[in-house]
Parts: sequence; structure tokens; C-alpha cells
Amino acid sequence: MRFIEWAGVRLFESFVEMPRGWVTNLLEEFFKHQGSLEKSHKIAGRWENQYLTIDHAPSARIPMRFARNMGKDGLDISSMILFEAPSGSPNPHPPFWFNVAGKGEKTGLHDHAHGSILSAVTYLQAEENCGHLYFRKEGFEDLTIKPEVGKIIIFPPSLLHGVHANHSSTERISFAFNLFPFPLVQSEIDGF
Ligand SMILES: [Fe+2]
Repeated sequence: MRFIEWAGVRLFESFVEMPRGWVTNLLEEFFKHQGSLEKSHKIAGRWENQYLTIDHAPSARIPMRFARNMGKDGLDISSMILFEAPSGSPNPHPPFWFNVAGKGEKTGLHDHAHGSILSAVTYLQAEENCGHLYFRKEGFEDLTIKPEVGKIIIFPPSLLHGVHANHSSTERISFAFNLFPFPLVQSEIDGF
């Protein structure tokens, strides 16, 4: 694992424990419940995010817990896992989702703000040349990260990022999520 100091922000890169076990299970859950997937929006002819409930994708807990623990231990950020949309959220979907990129497909620049305190992405299926993740901040060279199965990247939700085109022969499948401020700590910060 490593911390990445870049453009005045700190990111964290690691591999989730026993990647093969949970990755296989989560992929199976994803494929098994294709009929239950909810899709939020299409970009350039491709469904951008695909959502399952936690009941359909129970193995999602493993990378989410890992990120929460790493956020606390490594980044000193206390966060909370939510399996449903936070109340008042403009997005009715759960704050975790799958992303599938076929040959030539990419994801445009975006951020994950909206009340979250940590964001993360991990890879369930990623071959060589399947499209690197990149972070972008004005005045800095892009930070580029190679996707690898089981690798997780934890980053500030407000940081702009995208994914380069998949030039491999298989679909690139990632799992991303947001974590939220832990209320007790938040209220302490607010002075209540
Ligand atoms: Fe993203």
C-alpha cells in the first residue's frame, strides 16, 4: 500500500485483503443480478453507473469496510458506510455502483462530491491496457493509476477524475462508492 501526495491532496492505494475471494464473489453477484440492475444515466451510448442493492451484492461490504478502516487509520478521516442513499440526496440510488467499460469506452471527467467525505474505486476485472484512472487538477500533471484486480484507490470526493479508453479485449469492471461523515465526529467538529 502507499500514500500518494499529489497536487496538495493525499490519496491512498492498496489491495483489499484476499482480493481473489471477494472479487470473484462480487463479480458473481453482479452477473447473477443483471435483471435487478438499476441504471442512472447514459453517457456516449453507455450506461455510466449500474446499481444493485446490498442484498444483491453482499460482498460489496468487504471493499467498503476496508476503505472505511483505511480512511480512519491511514488518512485520519472517520467515515460511515451507507447502503442506501442518504436522506435528502438528489440521487435516489445507493452510494455504491458498478461501472462496465467495453472496448474503446471511457469515462469522462467528474467528481463524487454530494455530501460524502471519502470516495473509492476498486477493480473486479481489469486487463492490461483496459484504461488507466486519472485525476486532474488545474496547474498539475494528471495523476495516472493503472487498474489491477483487487486494487483500491481512496480519494477525496471533490477531486476530478476520469478513465481513459479501454484498449483491452475484455470489459473493464470497476466498483466505486462514497463514504459519509461519521455523525459523532462531525458534531464534535461543529462544536455541538
Ligand atoms: Fe468516479
